[in-house]
Order: sequence, then C-alpha cells, then structure tokens
Amino acid sequence: MAARLRVLGAAAGGGLPQWNCGCEGCRAARGPSPTLPPQSQSSIAVTADGARWLLVNASPDVRTQLAAFPPLGPPEGASRGSGVAAVALTNADVDHCAGLLVLREGGAPPIYGTDAVRGSLTDGLSILPALSAYGPVRWRPLVPGRATEIADADDAPIGVSATPFALAGKAPLYVRERVAEPPAGAHNVGLLLRAGDGPAVAYAPGVLDLADEVLREHLRAADVILIDGTFATDDELTARGMSARTARQMGHAPLLGAGGLLELLASLAPRRRVLVHLNNTNPVWGDREVRGRVEAEGVEVGFDGLEIEL
Ligand code: MLT
Ligand code: MN
Ligand code: ZN
Repeated sequence: MAARLRVLGAAAGGGLPQWNCGCEGCRAARGPSPTLPPQSQSSIAVTADGARWLLVNASPDVRTQLAAFPPLGPPEGASRGSGVAAVALTNADVDHCAGLLVLREGGAPPIYGTDAVRGSLTDGLSILPALSAYGPVRWRPLVPGRATEIADADDAPIGVSATPFALAGKAPLYVRERVAEPPAGAHNVGLLLRAGDGPAVAYAPGVLDLADEVLREHLRAADVILIDGTFATDDELTARGMSARTARQMGHAPLLGAGGLLELLASLAPRRRVLVHLNNTNPVWGDREVRGRVEAEGVEVGFDGLEIEL
C-alpha cells in the first residue's frame, strides 16, 4: 500500500521529556535508561504514492524526525532532494512552525496555511521573511471549507487533498496581546485529509470546543481521527504549579471527565481514533489506570512512528 500516514511526533510542545521538566513522565523518559519511550513534538506526514509526502506541521524536532524515516530524506542516488513535497500548518504555534527554519537549505517546501497563520509567521516570528533569504517562499492559502489539492514545488499535485475546517482556538502566545479575539478558523484549523481515494482522515491537534458542530461534523465524516489529547484534565498544569493557565486557557479541551474528549470519541466508535499532541504531563503516557480507561474505549495513544495504511 503506497498511501499511508505516519505520526512523526506524538508529543505536544516541549516533547517527552521536555528540556526543563521534572514531571513523572519526563523523568521516566529521560536517559540514560528511560522507562518510557521519548516522544518528539507534534507532526504527521501523509503520502498517496509513497514518494511525495505532505508534512503536516513542522516541529522543532523535524530534523531528527526526517532522519529517522528514510522516505522523507533525499531520493536514492540524488545529490539533493527530500520526500517532503509540501508542508501544511494547522496553526502558527511554535511547536508546529519552528521546524520551518530547519527546512531552509535550498529553499523550504511550499507551505500551506491560513492568512492569519501567515501573518503570525511574518510579523510575530519573522520565519517567512527569514526563509526568503534562503530561497523562494511558496506560500499557499488554506481557507476553511475549501478542498485543496496539495502540490509540490513544481505545482505537480501529489495526490493528497486537504480540506481545512474552522476550529476555535487561541492565537499563538507570541501574538496574542496584539491580535483581536479572532473568529474560529483564523488561527487554528483541523484538516480533513485524503490520499488518493483512500479513507478520510481528520487531523486536529488543537481542539478547544468539543461541542462545536463544525468539529463534530468533520469527525463524523472521517474514517480515521487523530485528535488533540494534550491534557487529561483542565487543571493538569495549574494543580502542580507548572503554569498559571488551565488546559482550556491554553486552547485544549481536556480528555477526561463529563463532556471531555474521551466521551466524545467513545460516541464515534468504531472509527480508528488516535490521540496526538500529548503533553508530557499527561498521565496517559505512564499511568496504567488512565491509559486503560482510554484504551477500553478503543481509543489509541499515538506514538512516534505509528503508521496507518490509507
Ligand atoms: C499549544 O499547543 O498550546 C502551544 O503549542 C503552546 C505553545 O506554543 O508553546
Ligand atoms: Mn502545541
Ligand atoms: Zn514533564
């Protein structure tokens, strides 16, 4: 099967372990003898033909993610090149965009994103102006509701389509002070992805409002769901004194409890349902009871290297 999806990074921003974190999960994942497998930061890749891949989100770990997966490297015998034909961004958060700077040599692949994401990467982080010094920046718009055929740098379609859907979410922290409260879908989208005529995949690593009918409609339309499992509970960081902001204030609906993500996902069985963008503090990594509750609903905990045939 040529068409497939690979989870390159299953962890949220910071990864597992996060450089400065001493939580239980980070301690377990830190060397020299980790008892939890380390996980890199949030990204997936999708291909229809097995050769040209859409990278969805470019994490700060993209260099090691590509090195760990030869199909994303240069084609055999080529002096330069990459299996990454294009990049799509679901938002402009640092954990989804810093990797663009890692892809600068020879000019970055074409980048798909919303206008607001482009604005954040121009006036907030200056990633796009910086990249333009290394090669052409091929920015291609994503518009919620509009199906987009992903194409490579030569404008050749790669056989993957992406239909963005508007999601409530926060503007990236680094521009939040400056931008007005944005409408859903400006700074944060989910993607309904299809490789060839394969199954529909809903990918949504940042989900705040689980009651949102746009979200629910796209989850119901999908055969495979990869969704925001960042935090188990709303107070996961605040209760430990690790942050002043709750999960919801960070733009992530919690997994457990009444009205939580797990409840929603249970109602979407028997679709394949995978949690991604998992924070290192999430007990689902190492706590058997919590993991058991998730898996009892048929929901999978994503991990680096998870592959799904499409
Ligand atoms: C998030 O998912 O909430 C963000 O990645 C946080 C951040 O930008 O550090
Ligand atoms: Mn994130
Ligand atoms: Zn931690």
